[in-house]
Amino acid sequence: MSELARSPALRGVPGSGLRGLYGRPFLDLGPLLAPYVDLAVLPALHEELCMGLTRLSPDVTGGSHRSMGIMPPGHEAEALVDYGEVIAGLDAAGFETLRLLADDPSAFDPAERAKTTYGEERAVPLSRRQLLWLKYRHGVYFPWKVYVELMPNRWWSEKHLSEGKRFTRLAESLFPKTLDFVRQLPFESIGRCNLMGLEAHDHGTLHRDGEPDEQTAPDEFITFSPAQNKTLVLWDPLTRAQVPVAGQAVWFNDFDYHGVLAAPWFRYSIRVDGVFRDGFVAAIAAEFGGT
Ligand SMILES: [Fe+2]
Repeated sequence: MSELARSPALRGVPGSGLRGLYGRPFLDLGPLLAPYVDLAVLPALHEELCMGLTRLSPDVTGGSHRSMGIMPPGHEAEALVDYGEVIAGLDAAGFETLRLLADDPSAFDPAERAKTTYGEERAVPLSRRQLLWLKYRHGVYFPWKVYVELMPNRWWSEKHLSEGKRFTRLAESLFPKTLDFVRQLPFESIGRCNLMGLEAHDHGTLHRDGEPDEQTAPDEFITFSPAQNKTLVLWDPLTRAQVPVAGQAVWFNDFDYHGVLAAPWFRYSIRVDGVFRDGFVAAIAAEFGGT
């Protein structure tokens, strides 16, 4: 289906600064998923996922939203210590330590520092050891401290493309029921799937994943929280209000500001990116397109 055919989804939310989807802040996809998956299995997936998490070493992510310039004005302080700023401020000895912790130290040329960007969605990615050093040595705040790539994807702009990608062997062995569930979701193709968890009391910094003025079609994804306890919110830049996102499986416009409220318990969700099946897009338009 063409982007134009999907563009009615981007008409905006009345009385709000949210771009939304089909005139709503977010879509609860639960009822529309019934032909594809049984959401009653979510508690069983939660059991499997919690057991599997005890058997791997999660990564961390986030941690540079302020230096990426993707936070709402006035909320920048909520990112706390940002690794983009920390790396920019490292002295020569500090940069050498960072370089030695890289998977490929040759990519960390001190002479090229000023011209190079490092980290998430940047020219030179950071290794797990570098991220942990930034946390331990420099106090960087990583909102998502339990991050597991079930289907890795290098570039955000390619997250809908499935070519050359697969679920990791670890995910296949630890989370078979979960992957079965994900494969049954109404995607033509899947290009990214990850588990994003926040430790108790941590908050997921408000940010947006793209510039609304440049959006021609919504990025297609489904996010679900097997424990049903995630505190996901959208932030409306016009009314300056938080909009709680509720539902067993939801889709929202990630070009709107979004984040996770702090809560005194561990929270996680699984986000699956890809290309929706045409029949599913038609069902969404039929359900939500007329209002
Ligand atoms: Fe995001």
